[in-house]
Amino acid sequence: MNSSEKMKVVLGDITKVKVDAIVNAANNTLLGGFGVDGAIHQEGGEQILEECKKIGGCETGEAVVTTAGKLPAKYVIHTVGPVWYGGNNLEAEKLESCYRNSLQLAVDHQCKSIAFPNISTGAYGYPKQEAARIAVNTVRKFVERNNTIESVLFVCYTTENKELISQAIAS
Ligand code: APR
Repeated sequence: MNSSEKMKVVLGDITKVKVDAIVNAANNTLLGGFGVDGAIHQEGGEQILEECKKIGGCETGEAVVTTAGKLPAKYVIHTVGPVWYGGNNLEAEKLESCYRNSLQLAVDHQCKSIAFPNISTGAYGYPKQEAARIAVNTVRKFVERNNTIESVLFVCYTTENKELISQAIAS
């Protein structure tokens, strides 16, 4: 399969997706929040939070892994996206690191399938079109040189993001 065939985009709720690993758009404390972070902890249950407390935190751009509690996935990979401060604070590099480090952690845990939300495009205010471009390009580069990952699902919560990711995959 070429890299584009490995990437799919759907509209939906990432907590319902049955893949090996789903990615959470967390914050540096790993203690939960709203948006996709809130949904994953709400649906996944206490076990995920207990494991996050043991990990103790996560730097922006880094990724850590827990089990998935009551979710259909095997793992939750928690990554912390950059807050958008206008683009001169290495936001693009940090966002790229989120995707790359999450994929690497999935490979380290023998995952063949992974689902991403649109990291940083909600509360953290990252411009959606640029975030979609970075997401797709980073995933494309990674899966071109690593065959462990067979499927990457972009799970969008809004049609706007779904359109933007679809355009980025097609371009
Ligand atoms: N499934 C998939 N995507 C979702 C879901 C869901 N259940 N809920 C929200 N989203 C989408 C949002 O529509 C947005 O496009 O996830 C994207 C990321 O938005 P946020 O969840 O707000 O994440 P982010 O912008 O990275 O901000 C992270 O918000 O919830 C807090 O603790 C979190 O402090 C952290 C910050």
